[in-house]
Parts: sequence; C-alpha cells; structure tokens
Amino acid sequence: MDNINIIKISSELKAQKGLLQSDELFDNFMKVRNQTLEIVKPLEIEDYVVQTEAFMSPPRWHLGHLSWFYDQLLRKYYTGYKAHKEDYDFYFNSYYLSFGELFNKSKRGTISRPTVKETLEYFNWVNKEVQNFLKSENEKLNNEIVQLFILGFNHEYQHQELMVYDLQHLLADKYKPVELNQPPSVVLNVNREMIKIKGGIFEMGFDKGNYKDMFAYDIEMPVHKVYLNDFHIDKYPVTNGDYLEFINDSGYKNFRFWLSEGWEAVKQNNWSAPLYWQKGDNGEWIKIDFRGETNISENKR
Ligand SMILES: [Fe+2]
Repeated sequence: MDNINIIKISSELKAQKGLLQSDELFDNFMKVRNQTLEIVKPLEIEDYVVQTEAFMSPPRWHLGHLSWFYDQLLRKYYTGYKAHKEDYDFYFNSYYLSFGELFNKSKRGTISRPTVKETLEYFNWVNKEVQNFLKSENEKLNNEIVQLFILGFNHEYQHQELMVYDLQHLLADKYKPVELNQPPSVVLNVNREMIKIKGGIFEMGFDKGNYKDMFAYDIEMPVHKVYLNDFHIDKYPVTNGDYLEFINDSGYKNFRFWLSEGWEAVKQNNWSAPLYWQKGDNGEWIKIDFRGETNISENKR
C-alpha cells in the first residue's frame, strides 16, 4: 500500500503543475485496479455473490460498483462514449441519489444478475475504456479530470478496505490472502496510562492550502475551530487482554458500560464477546481471522 500512496501523492503534485501525462495516470489507475483484483483472487465463484449481513456487500457488488464510478466519469467527459449496460446502474449505484433510484443495500446478495462473469467483463471493459479515453485526452488532460481520477483511486482504496472487512465476515479463516503480512509482535505489559487533555479551542480539518500534495475528501475540509472540554484518553489502544478483562468482569451483562443503543443491541443479539471471538473446548477464548485461530490469552497484552 505504501507504493500506491507515493504514486497517489506524486500524481497530485504533477497534476497541479500540469506535468502529469495520461499514460502515467493510466499506470496509476491500473495499479489500483490490480490491487482490487488481488483481494478477490483467492475467492471461489460462490463467494462473490453471498451477503452474510446487511452491513456487508458481496465481492461482486464491490467490483461492479468501483467500475460504475469510472463509468460515470467517462459518461460525463468522454465524447462519443457508449455506456456498457445502462441497466447495471440500478444495482451498482450505492448512495448517489443524483444518479437515480438506489437498490436496497441490505439485499445486494438476493439477486444473481449481473453474473460474476458479466461483472468481471464490466470491470475489464471499464479499464479498456479508461485507457482509450486517456489516450484521446493526452493533450487536454486537465486538472479537473485528474482530480476526479484521484478521487476514484481513493474511493477504490476505501472499498478495498471494506472488502477486507467483508471477507472477514464472509469467510474468516477460510480466506487465504495472496499476501499475508506478519502481524506485529505481541507487546507484553502495556502500561495502562491515561492522559488528561486540557479543554479549549482546537483546530480540526484538512489544510489543503499547506498540503497541496495530499488527498482529502471535501467533507474533511476546511480547517475549523471546535471547543472541547477537559477529557482523559488512554495512552495506548485497547488490547485483547483489556477486552478479556471486560468480559470476565461481566461487561456484557451490565448496562452501565453501554450507551442505550449499544445495550439494546447487546440484549437483542445476545452478545457476550466481540465478533469473531469464540469459546474453545477448554473454555479459553479464540479469535478467528485470516491467520486462522489465535488463542486470546496468548497475546493478552
Ligand atoms: Fe462507493
């Protein structure tokens, strides 16, 4: 991912200076697209269409939706462009009301068309059309178009992250990533310290004026002032050991530790541990993810 981020930043800088060539933009585009394909590479055909929960989306939908985004861009800027299939819009649009009626998000796994084969054809077809478009635009590649592509790349990074979450829900330890990074080593004896932050007026938001070479969504701008009261915050992120202690201390049985919506969800869903935690045969807690099964007590801190 680091390489991709460097590409992203250098593209932005060059775009602003009017130096970015369309073939370079296309190279960057294909790197992002290939990274998406790498995530779905280990999947079987059946995995692409299943929706295991309302909050996740089937991998087929992600692939089509990501392609739909560039498809919309081409429809606006590519003279003479002919959309692949207009009837894909209804299924692959997600939340852009301005592009028409939306398909119910929680029912993305209830239809079998477009098929996986058709969706992959659409994915590759969009890649080819983007290549044709950028070739035809070489002389007039303007900053507006480049910025929209960079927005498209960031949209795709976001979905790549979502796909990983969704694959965890769909397959957990049955998903074998093409590349599996080593988890960070276990840190023993994390110092449980809280820091007091004094209240006052703070600035938040992204300062585009000072960081022209960085990408940010428009909702992250502009820089603005906010007032915060005094507060305490943990010095380190919560550990599995902390969660374990919370469970053993009846955390899932006591409303005092929950906001009302959370407590309702605990009762309704009978939650007694975080998602993907299971009790082993000997009563120990086990976490299930792409690495397989991990005993929680082993990496307590
Ligand atoms: Fe999206």
